[in-house]
Amino acid sequence: MNKLNNFPILPNDENTIGIIGGGQLGKMIALSASRAGYKTHLYCPKGDNPAETVVDEVTNGEWDDYDNLVEFSNKVICATSEFENIPSKSLELLSNKTNVVPSSLVFRCAQIRSKEKEIASKSGFKTPLWFLIKNTDDLISSINKISNEAILKTNSLGYDGKGQLKIDATSNFFEVWENLGSVECVLEEKLQFKKEISLMYFKSLDGSEGFFPISENYHENGILKKTTAPVNLNTNVEIDIKTKTKKLAQSLDFYGVLAIEFFELFDGSIVFNEIAPRPHNSFHWTLDGCNTSQFDILVRTICGLPVKDVKSNGKWEMTNLIGNEVKNYNLYKDQNYILNIYGKKNVKTGRKMGHYNKNIS
Ligand SMILES: Nc1ncnc2c1ncn2[C@@H]1O[C@H](COP(=O)(O)OP(=O)(O)OP(=O)(O)O)[C@@H](O)[C@H]1O
Ligand SMILES: [Mg+2]
Repeated sequence: MNKLNNFPILPNDENTIGIIGGGQLGKMIALSASRAGYKTHLYCPKGDNPAETVVDEVTNGEWDDYDNLVEFSNKVICATSEFENIPSKSLELLSNKTNVVPSSLVFRCAQIRSKEKEIASKSGFKTPLWFLIKNTDDLISSINKISNEAILKTNSLGYDGKGQLKIDATSNFFEVWENLGSVECVLEEKLQFKKEISLMYFKSLDGSEGFFPISENYHENGILKKTTAPVNLNTNVEIDIKTKTKKLAQSLDFYGVLAIEFFELFDGSIVFNEIAPRPHNSFHWTLDGCNTSQFDILVRTICGLPVKDVKSNGKWEMTNLIGNEVKNYNLYKDQNYILNIYGKKNVKTGRKMGHYNKNIS
C-alpha cells in the first residue's frame, strides 16, 4: 500500500483502525483510538481477550487464517499489531491490502533475537557477548568463550523471561537444550548491571518523530514488576543512545512506536538488550504521567498526524499486578493508586492482570 497517499487519516465514519492482538495492549490502543474519534476493528484468535470489550468490531481467527485476515484487512484503513509474534507471512498478506504500521520487516527483525542484536550492533550499540546456537555442539564450544554465567534464550517466541535458562560450564547442556525445546537459541553473557532502562522512540507517517522520557525497570522472576520515570541519565549518554536509536529506526524504515530495553553497567556504559515495535509495559506510566500516552502517540503515528517529544508531568511509578495481586483490595481503597485492570477472566500465576500508576513527585 502506498503510505504517502493515505495520510493524514482523520476520524470519520469510514476510517476504522485495525488492531491485531486482543491483549491489554490492544485494549489500551483501542481506547486511545476511540477517544480520538476513530472506529476500531480487532483481529485475534478466540479466547480471553480483554480488548474485545472496547472495540467496535471483532474478527476472531487464528494467526494463519488467511481468509479471515483478508476480510479483516478489507474493513480497515490501516492496522497495527500489539502481538509481536504474529507470523510474518500473515503480516505480509495484510500489508498487501492495507497500511500496516510498523511494517512486516520490522516485526521480522524484532521476532528474532540474533537479528535484533545484529541490527543493534550495526547502529552502534554494544550488546552482551553472544553466540547463535543451532545444536548442542555449538553450545559446548561457545560456553567456554563466556567467562561469566550465561543465559540461553530461544531465538524466537520468548516473552516475560519465558524461553530462557541460566547456564554455565558445569550445567548439563543436553538437559538445558531439551528444556528449551531443542530449537535455535542465542547464548549470551549474563551482565552485572546497575540499572535496566528503556527508551521509546516514535515516528509518524508524516515524518515527524520524538521520544518519551526514559524509564527505569525492575524485574522479578524475568517479569517486569515496576517502572519509575523519568530517569536521569548523563546528558551525553542520553544523546548518544537517542542518536543510535534513530539510526536503528532509519535502517528499518520505521514508523510507529519503538521501545528499546537497555542495561546500564556500573561504568555508566549502555548495553542493548532488545527491541519491541509496539507499546511497551515500561511506558504504561505515560497513561497518567503525560498529556499524550504511548497509545495516543501510536494512533497519531499510524494516522500520519504530527508528533513531537513528550514530557512527563512529574515523577511516576508503575507497578504491575501479576496473578492474584489483582485481588489485593487494599489497593482499591486508595485513590492515589490509579488502577488499570485489564479485565482478563482467568487469573493465572505470572499473568499480567493490571497495573497501577502513582505520582511520586
Ligand atoms: N544478558 C543478560 N544479562 C543480565 N540479565 C539479563 C540478560 N538478558 C536478560 N536478562 C534479564 O531477564 C529479563 C528478561 O529478558 P529479555 O528482555 O531478554 O526477555 P523477554 O522474555 O523477551 O522479556 P520481555 O518480553 O518481558 O521484555 C531482562 O529484563 C533482564 O532482567
Ligand atoms: Mg525484555
